[in-house]
Amino acid sequence: MKHILGVTALIVAITLAAWTWLGRSFDQLVPLRASEESFFIDRLLGMQFYVIAFLFALIISFMLYSIIAFRRKPGENGDGDYFHSNTTLEIMWTVVPLGVVLYFAVVGAGYLGDITAPEPNEMVVQVTGSQWNWRFDYPRFGISSAELNLPKNQQTVLEISSIDVIHSFWVPEFRVKQDAVPGMVHPLRITPTETGAYVVRCAEICGKDHAYMLANVNVMEPADFETWVRAQVAPPTGGLADAGHDIAEINGCLGCHSVDGSIITGPSWLGLFGETVQLADGSMVVADEAYVINSILNPGEQIVAGFEDVSMPANFGAVLSEEDLEALVAYIASLSTHESEE
Ligand code: CUA
Repeated sequence: MKHILGVTALIVAITLAAWTWLGRSFDQLVPLRASEESFFIDRLLGMQFYVIAFLFALIISFMLYSIIAFRRKPGENGDGDYFHSNTTLEIMWTVVPLGVVLYFAVVGAGYLGDITAPEPNEMVVQVTGSQWNWRFDYPRFGISSAELNLPKNQQTVLEISSIDVIHSFWVPEFRVKQDAVPGMVHPLRITPTETGAYVVRCAEICGKDHAYMLANVNVMEPADFETWVRAQVAPPTGGLADAGHDIAEINGCLGCHSVDGSIITGPSWLGLFGETVQLADGSMVVADEAYVINSILNPGEQIVAGFEDVSMPANFGAVLSEEDLEALVAYIASLSTHESEE
């Protein structure tokens, strides 16, 4: 009886200490809560922390108490007492954890239903991952963007997909996460509650530049969001080459192709147009419009010598329209150092 009381006192003390610390520091342990969904996730996480803190106290208390109270004394050389079984104890340590796990299952299922429920006027944003870029399309406004801009307090459904391998869309401040799987569209609903700048990370190993597969996320006041949309919808003022630069940015081309002559993953676009290019099979080709378009649509066909390790997605044909391709060619041509080329 003395031992039971001693252990119980230790369990209560350690549990209360851990709970006090958790209550004070939980918000420092997690990122900012910037979406409605994050409150559900953090409530669930918080409840689990409290249960785990108690389990920690339970195990540590028995260990510490036994080390001190049941220490072998000098001259004590016999075996310890032999225990058989304790049915009451065994039923308890089966039924109690079962109840706790079932409770979390029910609460978790309820929260999952809450955070995935569509609201009537949700905004759709199509999110497309590729090695190693995020692209955002707003079908309601007919615009595409390299950054994810969202109005505050408006539910948005992100329709997440990929054009090459599996990626995963994750903004820690929103808490929820969804895989981007080629050939499939997975919805992820977010209602941002805090204006600010965040970063979407790729949370699935997807190749060499996985760690750098980032994009800016901006949560704006609804009026600022409208201003941004209006600016995007306005016809481009800079001509075809400028439009091509935007398309290259949105689709992540510039992550692999520099425009200053440096080599990233693919050949630089500076001074490319109109040049004669040596291919890996030894043949030579002039980098004209037909070559550029074929290299975008079929990156495995005319491989430039020195770039045999082709990692460019092979299905930009499904993403880029004919006008997009024309604009891209115009942009690449504008980087030409050739006098006579258009
Ligand atoms: Cu995309 Cu990791």
